[in-house]
Amino acid sequence: MNFLTVKDAKLRNQVCLVRVDYNIPLDEEGNITSDFRIRASLPTINFLKEKGAKKIILISHLGRPEGKKDKKLSLKPVAFRLAELLPDSKVDFVDDVSGPDVEDAVNGLKKGGVLLLENLRFYPGEEKNSDDFIREIIDSTGATIYVQDGFAVIHRAHASTSAVAKNLPVYAGLLLEKEISALSSALKSPKKPLSLVLGGAKVEEKTPLISAFSKVADKILVGGKIAADGLPKEVLENPDLAGKLYVSEDFDEDAEGNKFDIGPLATAKFADVIKSSKTVIWNGLLGKAEDPAFATGSEFVAKTLGETEGIASLILGGDTTGFVENLLKENPNLSYSLLSTGGGAALEFLSGKSLPGLEVIEK
Ligand code: 3PG
Repeated sequence: MNFLTVKDAKLRNQVCLVRVDYNIPLDEEGNITSDFRIRASLPTINFLKEKGAKKIILISHLGRPEGKKDKKLSLKPVAFRLAELLPDSKVDFVDDVSGPDVEDAVNGLKKGGVLLLENLRFYPGEEKNSDDFIREIIDSTGATIYVQDGFAVIHRAHASTSAVAKNLPVYAGLLLEKEISALSSALKSPKKPLSLVLGGAKVEEKTPLISAFSKVADKILVGGKIAADGLPKEVLENPDLAGKLYVSEDFDEDAEGNKFDIGPLATAKFADVIKSSKTVIWNGLLGKAEDPAFATGSEFVAKTLGETEGIASLILGGDTTGFVENLLKENPNLSYSLLSTGGGAALEFLSGKSLPGLEVIEK
């Protein structure tokens, strides 16, 4: 590893500003549908406590509120879940990221106490990678070291992932170290054929990754909103993708004709390709799977992948891992090689792109 981790840090009496990724899936009523990313942050929090850290200040984003407060995207419910998962710690929440309320909340923390600040993306400074914004947070919290443990957001150059590194000593958390190490070894000499299954709704960001994967993947299967919206001509006609790319053409639709799931032909094609692969990387649900009526394609693919022996299967991202974990509860016979918190971050890493949040913590 090309970076220092919390294991290299002197943690006693430090006020640790810890970037986590609590961008978790929520249902329409705002209930957490998967706490995978919250659970994934526990080893670092516990490690910091065990090593005598004075205060642990957690910072994260949730969704894309674009610099404005949005009650539906508050991190408060996450603090409640975190408190349940950390029964031996007191977990506090404050509905701001800097200023007097944050100062009071930090002052009120006992030794080893945990405080989650409000959604960073309620403030424009976060996505603008503003030095002033992160300094306000550092000043209000009295942070003395920065811990980057939000692997899933490492592909963003934001104040909490980039500018922060200019202002504090920087260490990687245990989750970040684990994710980088697992994905690096998966990438080292992957068993071939290697297939990428891509879905989800972040169309603009994922489309360029299809071409980036032409060097890594033997087959690229596209479903979800990316397929429903249709891929741009330059991707469909990219000669590097000739014979490799399959984009779903049939869909299950709702009464208004919205293409909300891949159809039976695409589902069968995905299953065939998966069965003949030795490595499968999957990111992004293949339909609007939060509605059981449109979860069929994702469920069939997840089951095929989890049942077929001899496949190294990498499940990437909060929504996809959440879906798979929920499926595992009722189908414990399924098995997957790696569940990664990172969606876009893991895809960018696997496709060989450099990650801004990683660059700033490298020695
Ligand atoms: C993710 O879910 O991939 C990360 O939390 C990053 O979220 P973003 O795509 O909204 O930046």
